[in-house]
Amino acid sequence: MKDILQQLEERRETARLGGGQRRIDSQHAKGKLTARERIELLLDEGSFEEFDMFKTHRCTEFGMEDQKPAGDGVITGWGTINGRMVYVFSQDFTVFGGSLSETHAQKICKIQDMAMQNGAPIIGLNDSGGARIQEGVDSLAGYAEVFQRNIMASGVVPQISVIMGPCAGGAVYSPAMTDFIFMVKDTSYMFVTGPDVVKTVTNEVVTAEELGGASTHTKKSSVADGAFENDVEAMAEVRRLVDFLPLNNREKPPVRPFFDEPGRIETSLDTLVPENANTPYDMKELIAKIADEGDFYEIQEDYAKNILTGFIRLEGQTVGVVANQPMVLAGCLDIDSSRKAARFVRFCDCFEIPILTLVDVPGFLPGTSQEYGGVIKHGAKLLFAYGEATVPKVTVITRKAYGGAYDVMASKHLRGDFNYAWPTAEIAVMGAKGATEIIHRADLGDPEKIAAHAQDYEDRFATPFVAAERGFIDEVIQPKSTRMRVSRAFASLRNKKLENPWKKHDNIPL
Ligand code: HXC
Repeated sequence: MKDILQQLEERRETARLGGGQRRIDSQHAKGKLTARERIELLLDEGSFEEFDMFKTHRCTEFGMEDQKPAGDGVITGWGTINGRMVYVFSQDFTVFGGSLSETHAQKICKIQDMAMQNGAPIIGLNDSGGARIQEGVDSLAGYAEVFQRNIMASGVVPQISVIMGPCAGGAVYSPAMTDFIFMVKDTSYMFVTGPDVVKTVTNEVVTAEELGGASTHTKKSSVADGAFENDVEAMAEVRRLVDFLPLNNREKPPVRPFFDEPGRIETSLDTLVPENANTPYDMKELIAKIADEGDFYEIQEDYAKNILTGFIRLEGQTVGVVANQPMVLAGCLDIDSSRKAARFVRFCDCFEIPILTLVDVPGFLPGTSQEYGGVIKHGAKLLFAYGEATVPKVTVITRKAYGGAYDVMASKHLRGDFNYAWPTAEIAVMGAKGATEIIHRADLGDPEKIAAHAQDYEDRFATPFVAAERGFIDEVIQPKSTRMRVSRAFASLRNKKLENPWKKHDNIPL
C-alpha cells in the first residue's frame, strides 16, 4: 500500500512539472508565471480540485507516441474565489507550447459541461501556440467542440478569458465568444493571422505587439476589456470582477457587506455641472460619489472613452453603470460607444444585474465616417439592448439629453423604471442654437432676433420641466441626494418582474 501511495505521489510530482524545469525557467524568464502558479493566485488558498491530471494525448504521428506528458498541456478543475465556486482551465505553455490537441480540448470541454450543469462561471487562462500541429484535424475538431460549448454557456454562466501568452489563429474565437477578455501587457497577443502572414498577403510590416498586443486590443479593436501589468495583477483583478457577478443566470449577484451610508449626501455634486453648458466635467466623479465606498470596476476603460461602463455596488448589491462622459467628444454617442455600451447592457440583462444610466449626451456624432461606418445600425444596438432589458433600470439625466440619444439612453419610453433629472437637465430635440436656426430661418440675417429666439427656446426647453410635466421624468432631484435616491429606487425594484414576449431569440441589428 505504501508503495502505491508513493507511486501516486511520484506521478503527481511529474505531472506538476509539466514540460520540465528548463521550460518552466524559460516561462519565468519571459516574466510569465506557470499555469499552476496562476491558478494558485486566482483561487482561494487550497481550494483547487484538479481533474484529469493524468490525461495524455493519443497522437502517434511525428514521433508523438514517445512524448506523453501527463495532463497534455492544460490544467483543469474547480475551486473558489472568496468562497464562491468557479471552474478554471489554465493552458501550460511548457507542454507543447500549450497547444490544443484532441485530449487537451476534451479536458476543457469537461469543465465547460460541469460549469453549465452546476451553474458556476468558467475562467480560461490562455497561453497557447494554437492547434497542436502534429494532430491536424483532430485539433481543429477539439477547438470546435470548445466553441460550441462557449456558445451554449453564453448567458447561462459568466465566461471570462485571460490572455497570458500567445493566442493566435482560430484559437482566438473561444475567448471572443466569452463575456470578458483581459490581457497581460507585453506578454500576450491575439491575432487571427500573425505578422508573417500579414506581410505575405498585404505587404504590411508589423510586430506581434502592434498587431495584437494588449494596447491594440484595449484601445483600437475593443477585442479586450482590460489590460493588466503582469500575471499577478491580472489574477487579482479577475478575482475582483468575479465578486461582482452572479454564479449563473438563475442566481442574483452576491451581496457584499458595505460600510457606506446609503443616504450619504454629497453637497459637492450640486456644483458638478459647470455654469457654461459647453464646459466638460468628469462623469467618473459622479459615479464614485454614488458608489459604495467609491468603488468602480471599469470595463473597456481605454476604448470609446465618451461612454463609461462598469460595475459598482449600492447597498452591497451589484449595479452596472453606463454613463456618457462629457470630457471626451462631449459625451456624444457614436459607433464605438454604442457598441461598447450595448454589449455591456446585454451582459447585465443576461445576468440580472440592474442598470444605472447617467446621461449627459448632446446627440449622435455627425459625419460621413459615422454614416459610412453604419452608425444607424450600431446606434440601434444600444437602443435595442436597453429596450429589451428587463432588469431594473434607473436613469439620471445630469445635463444634456438631446434628440434620439435622449430616447436611447434608458429613457422612460424604453421601460425605464425610475427616470430622474437634475435641475440642470436640458431635455430637447437639439441645442438652442441649432433649433433656432431651423425654426427661425427667416430671421437668420438679424443676430439680435436670433439671440432672442435662442433665449426663448432655452428658457422653455433647456430644462427638465417639460419632460417632467409629461411624466417622462419621474422626479427632478437635487444632485447632492443622488446616491440616496438611486439606492432607494433600486431597493424598491428588487422584486421587479418583467418578461418579454416568447420568441426563439431576437434579431438585434448585428
Ligand atoms: C505543437 C507547438 C505549437 C503547436 C508551439 N509548440 N506551438 N507544438 N503545436 N501549435 C511547441 C514548440 O515546438 C516548442 O516545443 C514549444 O511549443 C515552445 O515553442 P517555441 O516556438 O520554442 O516558443 P516561442 O519562441 O515562445 O514561440 C511561441 C509561438 C511559436 C509564437 C507560439 O511556437 C509558434 O509560432 N507556434 C506555432 C503557432 C501556429 O502556427 N499555430 C497554429 C495556428 S492555427 P519544445 O519541445 O521546443 O519546447 C490554429 C488554428 C486553430 O491554431 C483553428 C481553430 C478553429
